Amino acid sequence: MKAWYDKIDAVERVSDLEAIRIAVFGKKGVLAAEFAKMKDAPNEDKAAIAKELNIHKGRLTALLTQKKEMLQLHELEAAMKAEAIDVTLYSAPSQSGSLHPVMETMDRIVEYFSSMNFAVYTGPMIEDDFHNFEALNLPKYHPARDMQDTFYFKDEMLLRTHTSPVQIRTMLQSQPPIRMIAPGAVFRRDYDLTHTPMFHQVEGLLVDEAGSVSFANLKFILEDFLHYMFGDVAVRFRPSFFPFTEPSAEVDISCIFCEGEGCRVCSKTGWLEVLGCGIVDSNVFQAVNYNNVSGYAFGLGVERFAMLIHRIGDLRSLFEGDVRLLEQFR
Ligand code: PHE
Repeated sequence: MKAWYDKIDAVERVSDLEAIRIAVFGKKGVLAAEFAKMKDAPNEDKAAIAKELNIHKGRLTALLTQKKEMLQLHELEAAMKAEAIDVTLYSAPSQSGSLHPVMETMDRIVEYFSSMNFAVYTGPMIEDDFHNFEALNLPKYHPARDMQDTFYFKDEMLLRTHTSPVQIRTMLQSQPPIRMIAPGAVFRRDYDLTHTPMFHQVEGLLVDEAGSVSFANLKFILEDFLHYMFGDVAVRFRPSFFPFTEPSAEVDISCIFCEGEGCRVCSKTGWLEVLGCGIVDSNVFQAVNYNNVSGYAFGLGVERFAMLIHRIGDLRSLFEGDVRLLEQFR
């Protein structure tokens, strides 16, 4: 029997243990054979032989189990080592992208107005004359159409020159009260340091019962918004004109470059114009069949905000796709 202990000791693979188990414990195995021999042994020795065989049986069983567990553990460890990923291996550097500064700025603007319960609406970039002009109190041949140099298609369609047509679409679709913003791309025939033919606006519109919306409401939220975007700046409202609002205003912040001293960016005025706004003109409500309502609207250029926040001198550089510029905004 002694030889079997050594054999078990010497085994190196779990699969080889099974053969030994069968050779020892199987029906035709050594133990069975040893027990069979007992019938030829003298009667007085039988008890001692049986006792010894049973001791071997117990010890060999324990040894086999122990050996099996040990070998399984080793094999598992070997497998884990073989399959491990070497994280110290060299790999070619990869480049991660980032949000374009214009989109990041737009997200911040949307975030502010969402937090004030304004819903986000979008509209088509290819618009018709009615939504882009007519319903916004800009009848054909109105001189104010020249304020916005328009890209026209052959069939009376055009690229929207502002996000204001989304006001019209939203009012035609739903009933007051309305509290919406409309972020999106707009198009004008313009190209210089501060103008590109495509840029982005965020429009805002609030409509409620007649007499319930005042210029003071508009002033309050825009001041709060501009402080959210630019921090501790002075804000001023200047009377202005838009066909779709009356009264209208343009809103300036104190120049963030010279803090109001007067510099090249603010043309020595100490102020930077950042948005247009006003009380919705009654002709606009008439065009969408709204009665007994009052409201305010505002519109702003996202690129202008991004340029001021990131101190970018030339608007065109935002659209050249130069990775060196974009990498600065990671
Ligand atoms: N639509 C105007 C523009 O593009 C901005 C604006 C929107 C002004 C809403 C007043 C109210 O210049």
